[in-house]
Amino acid sequence: MTLEQFIEVKGGRSRTIPPAPVSSLDVSLIIPTFNEAGNIETLLRKLQSSFLETGVSFELVVVDDDSPDRTWKIALELTKVIPELRVIRRKHVSGLATAVICGWSLSQGKILGVIDGDGQHPADVVPQLLKSLHNGAEIAVASRNLMQGGVSEWPTIRRVLSGGAQALGQLLLPGTIGKVTDPMSGYFFLQREIVANTDLDPVGYKILLEVLARCEIENLVEVPYTFQKRESGHSKVAFKHYLGYLRHLLRLRIHPLRSQAMLRYLIVTASALLLDAFVFVALFEIQGWNLTRSAAIAGEAGILLTILLHDLWTFAGRPARNSLDRFRRLLGVQIALGGLLFMRLALTNALVNWLQIDPLVAFIFALTIVMPGGHLLGSRFSWRRNWN
Ligand code: GDD
Ligand code: MN
Repeated sequence: MTLEQFIEVKGGRSRTIPPAPVSSLDVSLIIPTFNEAGNIETLLRKLQSSFLETGVSFELVVVDDDSPDRTWKIALELTKVIPELRVIRRKHVSGLATAVICGWSLSQGKILGVIDGDGQHPADVVPQLLKSLHNGAEIAVASRNLMQGGVSEWPTIRRVLSGGAQALGQLLLPGTIGKVTDPMSGYFFLQREIVANTDLDPVGYKILLEVLARCEIENLVEVPYTFQKRESGHSKVAFKHYLGYLRHLLRLRIHPLRSQAMLRYLIVTASALLLDAFVFVALFEIQGWNLTRSAAIAGEAGILLTILLHDLWTFAGRPARNSLDRFRRLLGVQIALGGLLFMRLALTNALVNWLQIDPLVAFIFALTIVMPGGHLLGSRFSWRRNWN
């Protein structure tokens, strides 16, 4: 397949990244740019030599938001001397995080990465980051906050704001922010399968935050680096980006469950409860079976329907890694919900035998009290890595 070296996209707000094509490259590195005419050439040349040193097949993908200083044009010229370079010019849209997603979704690599286009992220950390992935990490983050890392030249106000932003994030999303020492890093590589098919919808600058919050990540490695000083141009960080960051945090806090999964989840739970009640009425009222046996079979029917639909539908976007993993996950839900079913049967019997409540009323009561919460608990427990 020949790569198009220049693509113009209008809008370019993709939200999902497709799996790697069959003829894929090892690595695609996205370089988001806005007015980086003075920096881009030096960076691209450094990146090319860093990559050649590693021996992997790669592409460097500049995603430029139609910069007035024509950064995209300069990059396009450079494709003549850097054959691994591709350029995407996004029109009528801006935003660092969405530029990265746009680049990832139009690239080929089995490993995806991102680096600033202004040279503040040193290109010579690339081999180390890739080595971490090669050694089994799912994501390798270049971090300023490790022992040997740092920021070479940041005014006090920026340090304070950056520290405050991190502390706020820690407060609102402890599970996400706590995974790394530098959650604000814009320099990292990850296995494509980690983000493929996940709905990403970041606001503003912090693409790593989005990835950490929404994707299933078990093995994360950090590599120290020192944030370099800018040679040319200026930072695009403005007050509105702090507001954007706050909105992003709140969005991840309030909608920790991907909304689509949540909707499907509720539909499945409601269907399972209906089936449960239907089977109970059929066995107990119509067939005349005894209470415990009818309720047990009805409950199990609901559990099996839940497991089946969640596996094939609700969480289908994030399949288990292998059949053993899948089996374990399904067994986990069966055990969790089975335990709850047992409690429910005990409750129903207690109501009927001790309080002389009508069996149907007791059944419905136990079902509505125990099961919805139970379904939520049981499935959250087993599919928990898919919710985040
Ligand atoms: N395509 C595109 N669209 N690129 C953008 C946009 C945009 O709207 N805004 C900024 N960029 C590019 C810049 O041209 C640069 O290459 C990179 O994104 C980082 O932008 P800077 O404005 O230089 O960011 P910074 O140096 O202040 O912030 C850095 O530090 C943060 C750590 O606190 C960046 O590395 C961030 O990625 C990082 O999170
Ligand atoms: Mn910068």
